[in-house]
Amino acid sequence: MTKHVTLTQFIIEQQRELPGVSGAFTSLLNDVVTACKKISHLVNQGNLIGVLGSADSENVQGEVQKKLDIITNDIMVDALNWTGHLAGMASEEIDDIILIPPQYPKGKYLALFDPLDGSSNIDVNLAVGTIFSILRCREGVDPALEDFLQKGAEQVCAGFVLYGPSTMMVLTTGQGVNGFTLDQDIGEFILTHPNMTIPNDTSEFAINMSNQRFWEPPVKRYIDECLQGKDGLREKDFNMRWVASMVAEVYRILTRGGVFMYPYDLRDPSRAGKLRIMYEANPMAFIIEQAGGACSTGRERILDIKPKALHQRVPVILGSKNEVERIVGYHQEG
Ligand code: AHG
Ligand code: MN
Ligand code: MN
Ligand code: MN
Repeated sequence: MTKHVTLTQFIIEQQRELPGVSGAFTSLLNDVVTACKKISHLVNQGNLIGVLGSADSENVQGEVQKKLDIITNDIMVDALNWTGHLAGMASEEIDDIILIPPQYPKGKYLALFDPLDGSSNIDVNLAVGTIFSILRCREGVDPALEDFLQKGAEQVCAGFVLYGPSTMMVLTTGQGVNGFTLDQDIGEFILTHPNMTIPNDTSEFAINMSNQRFWEPPVKRYIDECLQGKDGLREKDFNMRWVASMVAEVYRILTRGGVFMYPYDLRDPSRAGKLRIMYEANPMAFIIEQAGGACSTGRERILDIKPKALHQRVPVILGSKNEVERIVGYHQEG
């Protein structure tokens, strides 16, 4: 019989190799896994249990919240706030940092999450996910906003769960990227995609083409060249995908390469982009770099940005190294 490695076993064995590891991190990760299994179940049940559709509310970023945006946020908070491993949390769906209720002990980590990524897809039964990032914190204190505003390079761990035809967890603790598939029968994530790596070259891009007339010249130039393919300056023709779920796009890129872009939009005077640095760009950048890819705003490495605000947005260009470097080069040329 094939011997399967569970996520728990994988993490315990990986952490055992590291000096000064207390077990708190392993335990924290287990709590995240439990929350994501619950979310997987809810997403799978869909309208059987009446969780689809919009709520009558907006989040701090002005997005209309789906019912599941709120439910999944509550699942994450409720699974993590009592365990004693966290000093605080931050979520796409909550305006301010989330402190640990006074009756519970405080730990040495911060958890940041996008509880439901791609939520515009939920009502049409397409892939959605949960993205998370773990940071270190001063121990035993109520953290201040400044404690959260760390560069992505400081992340202890980043991961996402993709609720697709299979439920998959992809994880990095800075020692490569591994993928696990949820075995629904036994309720365990099983290591199915060890050491995921992104090919340096690709002929597939992902961008929301409906924003084309608002892009900056370097992005326009790159996509124009992809569209012209062999009839233009490129040596190959390109294919395009746009799922509108970052989790699904990043998973595809981890599997077969590609480049994903959510660039500046010239309509936006702050020129900020759409995706949020703390719980979308940073965790995905950590994963992508650990798998041998690259992640940039076009002007700087995502993981080097010092965030100024919790819900700060950032342009994102990520994926196969040679294509990302080409796009960064176009930004340098102006
Ligand atoms: P969220 O559902 O967490 O708000 O994130 C959606 C993000 C991301 O997953 C996706 O890449 C992008 O928004 C899609 O944007 P468009 O609808 O503009 O294509
Ligand atoms: Mn949202
Ligand atoms: Mn998202
Ligand atoms: Mn979301």
